[in-house]
Amino acid sequence: MKRIVIFASGSGSNAENIIRYFTTKKTATVVKVLCNNKDAKVFERCKKLHVPCQLFTRDDFFNSENILQQLKKEADSIVLAGFLWKIPTNIITAFPNKIINIHPALLPKYGGKGMYGMHVHNAVKENNETETGITIHFVNENYDEGAIIFQAKTQLNPSDTPEDIAQKIHLLEYEHFPKVIETVMNG
Ligand code: GAR
Repeated sequence: MKRIVIFASGSGSNAENIIRYFTTKKTATVVKVLCNNKDAKVFERCKKLHVPCQLFTRDDFFNSENILQQLKKEADSIVLAGFLWKIPTNIITAFPNKIINIHPALLPKYGGKGMYGMHVHNAVKENNETETGITIHFVNENYDEGAIIFQAKTQLNPSDTPEDIAQKIHLLEYEHFPKVIETVMNG
C-alpha cells in the first residue's frame, strides 16, 4: 500500500475528495494532511474522515528539516491540493517526480506567483476567455512550471461569473485529480 501525504492551505475540498476516493482502493491511501493555516477548513474535513491533519510552521518548512524528515518516513507520494507555499528545494530533491500539484487553469496560462484560487478565475473572466481548465503537473523549483501530466478543459459562457468558473473548475478537479494521482502512483 503506497502512502500519500496531502498538503493543503484552505478549504480542502480536493483533499476530502482524494481521501474518499482512496478509502476504497488497495493500492494507495492518504495517511495524513499537512496544513500551514490554523484556520483552514481542511481540519474539520479531516476530523470527520478520521485522517490526521497536522499544522506546521514556516520554520518547520523553510528553516529546518522537520517536514522533510517526516515526509521521508511517512510518504511515498506528495499531493498539493490548494497548497499555497512554494516547496523548498530539499523536499523537491528528495521526492523526484513524486510531488503532484493541481492548478485551476490551463498552464502555462494563468500560472506563477500570486496566481491561485479566485485570482486565477478573476483573471480568466477579465480576459473574456471562452474556455479554461485544470492542469495536473509534477512540482519543480518554479511555481507551476513542472512537467504537465494531465489537462482537462471546460467551456465558458459570457455570463459566467468568477464564482461560476470556480465551480466548473472544482467539478473537473473532483472528477480527474484522484484518478490521475492513482495512475501516476501505479506507473
Ligand atoms: C483548487 O481549485 C486548486 O486548484 C487551487 O486552489 C483550490 C483549492 O480548493 N490551487 C491553486 O490555485 C494552486 N496555485 P480546495 O481547498 O477546496 O481543494
